[in-house]
Amino acid sequence: MLLNPLSAKNFMVKLYRIDEVKIREKKRFKVEGEEVLAIRLKDGLYAVENMCLHAGCQLSFYEGVREDKRIVCTCHGTAFYLNDGRVVEGPAQTPLKVYSVKVTKGELHVEL
Ligand code: FES
Repeated sequence: MLLNPLSAKNFMVKLYRIDEVKIREKKRFKVEGEEVLAIRLKDGLYAVENMCLHAGCQLSFYEGVREDKRIVCTCHGTAFYLNDGRVVEGPAQTPLKVYSVKVTKGELHVEL
């Protein structure tokens, strides 16, 4: 994994070339001990932590992204907005961690 330090705290991590990923495709990565779920939609790229904090299920098993950019945890049905990680409905109380994403020279990077 290529790491590009930007500061002592935050740095950008290259995940993949965006032309290798189809729209609505998801990929998960283990980066610096964090599991990141990256999703490409028509309007952009999103990256969130891959764990629902209700009971620890992996969000990468979701059925698909809804029109309003919600993903639903398959374990107990909590719905989260991809934009900000907010809980829309369901038993989870804690929002998802949302990573800043940046596309540079056709590559998706997330900020950790
Ligand atoms: S683990 Fe996700 S809703 Fe329970």
